[in-house]
Amino acid sequence: MDITEIILSQHAEQRRLFALLDEVEPHDSDSLGPVWDQLATALELHAKAEEELFYPALLELGTGAGGEDSATEETTDAIKDHNEIRDGVRAAAGQMVGSDEWWAAVTKTREANSDHMAEEEREDLADFRRHADLSTRHQLAVAFVVYGARHSSGVAAEDEDPEDWVQEHNRSS
Ligand SMILES: [Fe+2]
Ligand SMILES: [Fe+2]
Repeated sequence: MDITEIILSQHAEQRRLFALLDEVEPHDSDSLGPVWDQLATALELHAKAEEELFYPALLELGTGAGGEDSATEETTDAIKDHNEIRDGVRAAAGQMVGSDEWWAAVTKTREANSDHMAEEEREDLADFRRHADLSTRHQLAVAFVVYGARHSSGVAAEDEDPEDWVQEHNRSS
């Protein structure tokens, strides 16, 4: 197993669930609601697992990739992005499922998540592939999957201050 592959496959699942929403009749709240709930739970679980397991390891081993000069810049950006995705999920939670306002919040979440996944794949994952050995990548993959299983019913969404978070987790500084 490889943490970079696990993250890529979870990104693919998120893209698939957003695409599934496109397939449902736009005002069919009975069908949209459960798919959205599944997606919102998956987004937060994925973000939290990255914050608990992947980004601390990236901070320790990464040196920057894909246009970023350091793992500190990569992870600071990533935490900011996670907060934007959380903003979108919270905005959707305040609207009636299937309403124009709900779709606007879902689209905002999708944009934030698409931008974030692209950046994370180009920078954070590339950096980790270049600098983490296969044993580390395997161990983190197992821990990531176990984290998901342990919290399969979901985790509470809480914003993190990007600078504070990086300072707290940056063992090399
Ligand atoms: Fe991710
Ligand atoms: Fe992420």
